Amino acid sequence: MARPRVLSGVQPTGCLHLGNWLGAIRNWVDLQASHDTFFCVVDLHAITVPHNPEQLAEDTLSTAALYLACGIDPNQSTVFVQSHVAAHSELCWLLNCVTPLNWLERMIQFKEKAVKQGDQVSVGLLDYPVLMAADILLYGADLVPVGEDQKQHLELARDIAQQRINSRFGSKDAAGEEIPVLKVPQPMILKEGARVMSLTDGANKMSKSDPNEGSRITLLDPPELITKKIKRAKTDPTMGLEFGNPERPEADNLLGLYALLSGKGRQSALAECGAMGWGTFKPLLAEAAVEALRPVQERYRDLRSDPGHLQAVLKDGQIKATEAANATLSAVRQALGFLPAA
Ligand code: TYM
Repeated sequence: MARPRVLSGVQPTGCLHLGNWLGAIRNWVDLQASHDTFFCVVDLHAITVPHNPEQLAEDTLSTAALYLACGIDPNQSTVFVQSHVAAHSELCWLLNCVTPLNWLERMIQFKEKAVKQGDQVSVGLLDYPVLMAADILLYGADLVPVGEDQKQHLELARDIAQQRINSRFGSKDAAGEEIPVLKVPQPMILKEGARVMSLTDGANKMSKSDPNEGSRITLLDPPELITKKIKRAKTDPTMGLEFGNPERPEADNLLGLYALLSGKGRQSALAECGAMGWGTFKPLLAEAAVEALRPVQERYRDLRSDPGHLQAVLKDGQIKATEAANATLSAVRQALGFLPAA
């Protein structure tokens, strides 16, 4: 039997941070052995807000290198760049034409990002979730491993597939059962790490777009910088660390990070640190973060010193992804009634 298909991606906008790793990529690594996995660097998404053309290609390569450095194995997974597979843009257009505008206007991330951009907000930013739906639906993904913040976008992808394509353009078999055009995907959101919060404000998620670099730890931060950021992280006046106290989001977040980064799990982390003051806890957390990132950073440096290897991985990924994507695109074109090219 075919293994269930998985697709996910990260935008190449600056360096990946602990939220991207613990909320998404860590989960991808675990799925590789049992699933048919596709991981793309979603560069077309990265231009939905103003971007620097001198930085885009470099960020795309470094993001791909970080996937591999985090443990994505190109012998097990298809790793590719979204813009290298033209079908993403084309399916996005086809889906645009069946997606109601008001579905997009109510997307929380659009509303949050649009406020920051005022009059300059692009059509692309509004359309971001439709492109994301195209990414997923092209590969017939069963599962999409993401952080909590992507749940609404996943629901939209499901609604587009089911309500706007399958129920309108699907055919029926002899028994009257619907033959779907597109597979309806399921989100896969881990219990732990799905919402890593900012170091400077435990009520906001860690994000690449926060202007304060002290709010996030990136996967390539050197040990001294990691230690400095953790030292400066927001705390509260209460003694001891705990989970789940809504009055103490920073304690919950930093203890959760310690549980994941040390590999000890929540129970042991709580038993070890529950009675500690912040001054004792923070160096422990810094050490756990430095040690967890050390092998990732070493592998990253090796990968970047051999650009030919990385390019070959992405070329191979492009070929495999194009084949899978074009099959779905043809099915959608046919279902929508386009004249096939002679
Ligand atoms: P991006 O680049 O914003 O985030 C990439 C992944 O990281 C997760 N994430 C977090 N998880 C936990 N805590 C955080 N603070 C945190 N910040 C980010 C995100 O949930 C995501 O899983 N729209 C997607 C990119 C995308 C995509 C796709 C994903 C485009 N097409 C198709 C899956 C399938 C995004 O948020 O990228």
